[in-house]
Amino acid sequence: MGLLLKADNNLPGKKKYAERAFFGRKSGKRMLKGQQILFTQLLPSLEIKLTKDQQFDPQEIFQNKQKIILEIGYGGGEHIAKKAKQYQNYGFIGCEVFSGGIGKLLKLIDREKINNIALFNDDALKLLNALKENSIDEIYLLYPDPWPKKKHHKRRFISKLTLEKMAKVLKKGAKFYFATDIEDYANWTLAHILQHKDFSLNLGPPASWHQPFSDWVETRYEQKARREKRLKSFYFTFIYKG
Ligand SMILES: C[S@@+](CC[C@H](N)C(=O)[O-])C[C@H]1O[C@@H](n2cnc3c(N)ncnc32)[C@H](O)[C@@H]1O
Repeated sequence: MGLLLKADNNLPGKKKYAERAFFGRKSGKRMLKGQQILFTQLLPSLEIKLTKDQQFDPQEIFQNKQKIILEIGYGGGEHIAKKAKQYQNYGFIGCEVFSGGIGKLLKLIDREKINNIALFNDDALKLLNALKENSIDEIYLLYPDPWPKKKHHKRRFISKLTLEKMAKVLKKGAKFYFATDIEDYANWTLAHILQHKDFSLNLGPPASWHQPFSDWVETRYEQKARREKRLKSFYFTFIYKG
């Protein structure tokens, strides 16, 4: 993005760092032939490509859609694919960097004949920077990488910086849905939200924090958590007050 900032709670230290929020793997095993074909034949028609400093109004690609929903780090894409199929009158933007995940979602889009998903295949921070102000109705961040070691906490997607960027693109009254199976990340997120005056907590009693969102679609990482005996997740809905 070319933009440099003095680290706040995005990255620490006295040096200046390029703004980024992605620290994971971009690719894994070699792609299957079927996936390669989808990358060359289907992806170009769905991909959001941004040039440096470009502003992007999602309404331009989703004319006549009632709402625009963004999912950050969709993994295998099962949540966004199911939602897009269920809500044909909404436009969905899926943001993921890992090629294996992008390939899985392309397969779902192709198989289910979904026509209301656009894809951004780079760091969500770049997309948030480019998105027009007040253009997004809902953001989902489901099971973000937990970065459990203290020295890696600064890599967590939730930071003062990313909340500011999300606040910029959300419409007044818009919802930010967050789920994690990691208690420390749940606390981290609540602490950041509490510090951000533009989001309100609408938490209810603690037992309700473990109630999945309505129309919930279990994600790959939630299934992994359950297999690994992390049996309770936290599901928070934050409202952007504007
Ligand atoms: C732990 S996985 C969870 C995937 C999925 N949401 C689920 O619940 O199964 C986190 C995903 O977020 C993606 N991710 C992490 N940081 C990101 C960023 N800054 N921009 C886009 N995707 C990101 C990773 O590539 C990874 O696939």
